[in-house]
Amino acid sequence: MKLSSANINVMVKACRKASKTIIRDFGEIENLQVSLKGPGDFVTASDKKVEKILINELQKARPSYSILSEEIGQINNDKSFKWIIDPIDGTANFLHGIPHFAISIGLEHDDEIICGIVYDPIKDEMFVAEKGNGSYLNNQRMRVSSRSKLKDCIVFTGGPRLDSKNKELALEEYKKFSSKILIPIRKLGSASLDMAYVAAGRCDGFWQRNLNYWDIAAGIVLVKEAGGFVTDFEGENRYVENKTILATNSRISKEMIEVLN
Ligand code: 2AM
Ligand code: CA
Repeated sequence: MKLSSANINVMVKACRKASKTIIRDFGEIENLQVSLKGPGDFVTASDKKVEKILINELQKARPSYSILSEEIGQINNDKSFKWIIDPIDGTANFLHGIPHFAISIGLEHDDEIICGIVYDPIKDEMFVAEKGNGSYLNNQRMRVSSRSKLKDCIVFTGGPRLDSKNKELALEEYKKFSSKILIPIRKLGSASLDMAYVAAGRCDGFWQRNLNYWDIAAGIVLVKEAGGFVTDFEGENRYVENKTILATNSRISKEMIEVLN
């Protein structure tokens, strides 16, 4: 089965087009690691190129929609529809030649994410979801995992950054989860893929502080439509304002919230 609506088709087409540039540029990075200058400027330019392709494609198909994108910020248009774009999520992985990063696009309608796509161009894995119509990985329906004891779960997190205000808090949370779970915590470096993996049942729970809306927008609908829960650390809906996100298979939310508080 396939998820195919007008907006999903627009998002898929934009991702496919932009991924050609990402893959080509990723192939160059290995050469740049050994150069004196390093790949920093090249990656910044690549990020901007990819963003431009995505915005061009999305604007061509939906000229009236607003846009929020990591590099260029806000383009104000029709207030009720907004594309939320992260051209390369997992930039540090990309920069270091680690093949784990994604294009992430969410579509917000009246303050709710109604469509989402997270595309991993290297593994050619496309995670898409639409409100009311389910979550799919390469045209196969996805479901969250069914594990219900936190102790037996695999959980992901990210951060904290060197300059993070909440660094100590984040490290404290990491310690607390580490003392409750058998399998060591994973840090894969791409928040959008972390959430897509929750939706796919590969990961049972994901928590992180300080993420931006474009890191999580697509993931929100992916997780919800796969049967999972997305909340802040208190179990409420204010994850964007509070900058704390918890995405789970639904069964371990309560236990994770207890650890986080
Ligand atoms: P980026 O690659 O687009 O910068 C790494 O933990 C993941 O978190 C990546 O998805 C990264 O997005 C994202 N991230 C964004 N802002 C962050 C922050 N302030 N602290 C930690 N991770 C952040
Ligand atoms: Ca990001």
